[in-house]
Amino acid sequence: MRSAAIRLAMVQDAPAIAAMSQAFIEHGLGWSWQAPRVLAAIRDRATNVAVAQADGPLLGFGIMQYADDSAHLALLAVQPQARHQGLGKRLVLWLEDVARTAGIERLRVEARADNANAIAFYRAQGFQEFARSVGYYSGRIDAVRLEKRLFVKGIGL
Ligand SMILES: CC(C)(COP(=O)(O)OP(=O)(O)OC[C@H]1O[C@@H](n2cnc3c(N)ncnc32)[C@H](O)[C@@H]1OP(=O)(O)O)[C@@H](O)C(=O)NCCC(=O)NCCS
Repeated sequence: MRSAAIRLAMVQDAPAIAAMSQAFIEHGLGWSWQAPRVLAAIRDRATNVAVAQADGPLLGFGIMQYADDSAHLALLAVQPQARHQGLGKRLVLWLEDVARTAGIERLRVEARADNANAIAFYRAQGFQEFARSVGYYSGRIDAVRLEKRLFVKGIGL
């Protein structure tokens, strides 16, 4: 199998991305990222939906929403059989590079408080916890909010 490439998602990727969100991120919650919402994100000019793919089905994806000073990593998942090979890291860096180029100062992300793996992963990518939102997910599960400073305009980091 050739190594996975990261690219922008196309409209035909929306159902597979929605299915991964339901299976790997939103399990136990309502399914809020169904295909039409993913499609809207793919078409949104202020959002990048990045996917990782080798020869077969999608291996992972990330969705980042860009604002003036900050960017929000809305979703990130890698297929279980493709984990621990650096794909999650590559997806985040791909989306992060766009933010850096745009002069965005910080990245933010929420993780389910019951998702120790994701919290450990984000820490390894340079994110730090700064808040906890009680009942953020369907009023039942808390969110840990994490931030990564990229730079401060005119000063650097
Ligand atoms: C979180 C997730 C995207 C990580 O993807 P991945 O491709 O396995 O991550 P990588 O291989 O790029 O890991 C990069 C580094 O992060 C850290 N890391 C990754 N998974 C980790 C874990 N379970 N525990 C601790 N550190 C971890 C490690 O430092 C790793 O580097 P190493 O493999 O050299 O030790 C993946 O586990 C996943 O899809 N989980 C389910 C969905 C999810 O929780 N998404 C995030 C919330 S939206």
